Amino acid sequence: MTNTIETLPTPSVVIYEDVVKRNCKLMHDRAISLGVDIRPHMKTHKTIEIGKFQTETINIKKIIVSTLSEARFFALSGQFKDILYTVPIVPTKLAAAAHIHSSIDVLHLMVDHPDHIKAMVEYRNQHLGALGNKKWSVFLKIDCGYHRAGADPELPSTIKLVEQLTKSLSDHFVFQGIYTHSGHSYKQTSPDGIAKIATSEATVAGNFAKKIRSLGYPCPIVSIGSTPVCCHLPNNLKDLGVTEIHPGNYVFYDLMQVELGNCKVDDVGVHVVSRVISVYPERNEMLVDAGSLALSSDPGCTHLPDRAPGFGIIVGDNNLRIVGVTQEIGKVSSVNGSPIDFNKYTIGSIVRIVPNHSCLTAAMFSNFNVLSTESTTQVKETWIPNKHW
Ligand SMILES: Cc1ncc(COP(=O)(O)O)c(C=O)c1O
Repeated sequence: MTNTIETLPTPSVVIYEDVVKRNCKLMHDRAISLGVDIRPHMKTHKTIEIGKFQTETINIKKIIVSTLSEARFFALSGQFKDILYTVPIVPTKLAAAAHIHSSIDVLHLMVDHPDHIKAMVEYRNQHLGALGNKKWSVFLKIDCGYHRAGADPELPSTIKLVEQLTKSLSDHFVFQGIYTHSGHSYKQTSPDGIAKIATSEATVAGNFAKKIRSLGYPCPIVSIGSTPVCCHLPNNLKDLGVTEIHPGNYVFYDLMQVELGNCKVDDVGVHVVSRVISVYPERNEMLVDAGSLALSSDPGCTHLPDRAPGFGIIVGDNNLRIVGVTQEIGKVSSVNGSPIDFNKYTIGSIVRIVPNHSCLTAAMFSNFNVLSTESTTQVKETWIPNKHW
């Protein structure tokens, strides 16, 4: 017997297929209208089904993953043959990477330090044939201001990396181009601020590509983007030198994206279904069975002025927030102090929660309950995400 919302064990996660498909199409159409490619990230959902929605209109299905386990999972499906693993590669992962690279068209790896290059050359020299007679395929990660991963585009040592990848060590490498990720777009307080990050990321990446080409090195791909940036791209993106965008979170969006002004609450494609486990009218609070192991402990956009603290909002009652989480329990309170309707929220009643950060929330669950739309109650399918590293 298939589940309905009412028969799901709680907490569970539900996905709205129509919303996810719409989000995928809109982002794809945005890329097309700006004249760039899209290489979507799989990290938010880690499922074959949504990976197909993200790529169904693309001729060459290029995807991005954040773990080698994901790379293996998407490769084994037989449907994805061009995969980019975006975390700078550590030498201990080269054997696994070589195995995946030899089993599909290409597994691209990411470097931002000479020791990555050195380890890859050594591995290839020592394991002749392990890559199926292929070279390593690499992107160079450039820091566009986020200051997480990425070589500094201003340093001569970064040009040296390009030189090694394209000239002196080119027996070992196919250089794809450069990659930036603007995680600092999540720290902006307005759509204008995000638009400025979008233009600066595109400019940093485009200018670096121009610089290395002017020095005689190839740079076919210039890949930028986070979901906030991809919601506020400049119209002259292509002229700035960008060739592709690589968002991931946009498939689901979440409360952070709503609060940053990147989408509307109706664009959020994932909710956590939870039940009221007890009520406390005397203090205008109630508890639900979704705590940090269902929602994650990500506090969301705490930097936004006037934002009520919390871990998610109750669908249909945006004034009700999860104001605290412990392992299996979420505490719900009314943000503006208006009385909670305890006739509606009785013990055992169902609530749906818009989570702060859908990537982390989705990763908490081992299956996704798929509804055609938010207004249907019947679970039509169950999708199984990849897990672990
Ligand atoms: C390296 C990298 N690229 C792309 C993305 C996609 O960004 P977003 O999830 O904002 O779409 C992420 C997200 O964490 C990332 O870490």
